[in-house]
Amino acid sequence: MLITNRKIVPPADDKRWKIVDVTMRKQGYSPTALIETLHTIQESFGHISGEALEYVANSLNVPPSKVFGVATFYNLFNMTPLGEHVISLCTGTACYVKGAGEVVEFMREEYGLEMGQTTPDGKLSFMVARCVGACGLAPVMILDSKVVGRLSPEQMKARIREWMSHDQ
Ligand code: FES
Repeated sequence: MLITNRKIVPPADDKRWKIVDVTMRKQGYSPTALIETLHTIQESFGHISGEALEYVANSLNVPPSKVFGVATFYNLFNMTPLGEHVISLCTGTACYVKGAGEVVEFMREEYGLEMGQTTPDGKLSFMVARCVGACGLAPVMILDSKVVGRLSPEQMKARIREWMSHDQ
């Protein structure tokens, strides 16, 4: 990685890196910006690649092992590219109380996926979402970009099966 006048060059000429850089700059490239920066990378790119980890480590002057440790410790972060289809399940309190946990078990049994994982064929990712602000619709899940709510756990499972059979 090229370092010129303390300016660390992003891995690629991609505008999304500018967004990542703004996040770090706002906090003076302090190591405390690490988690927020990882969130920005994930939101911008869908996952956190090895080169992203290296870029953040160099920019914030944090050992790469620490960046890797933080990125893998929180299951909010995804280290591999997302699948063709993504189900994001809100695990905020309201959604959890209304049965999100049953959907977690269903995804494990039906598709062999834990939260944050993608099927080996790259077809489906199962992601965790923080409260999406639609608690009135709890439990909430997002099937690709469509927000689905107010379903019983049984209805949610049926909806996922239906979505998978249509979209794959
Ligand atoms: S807790 Fe799920 S939308 Fe708020």
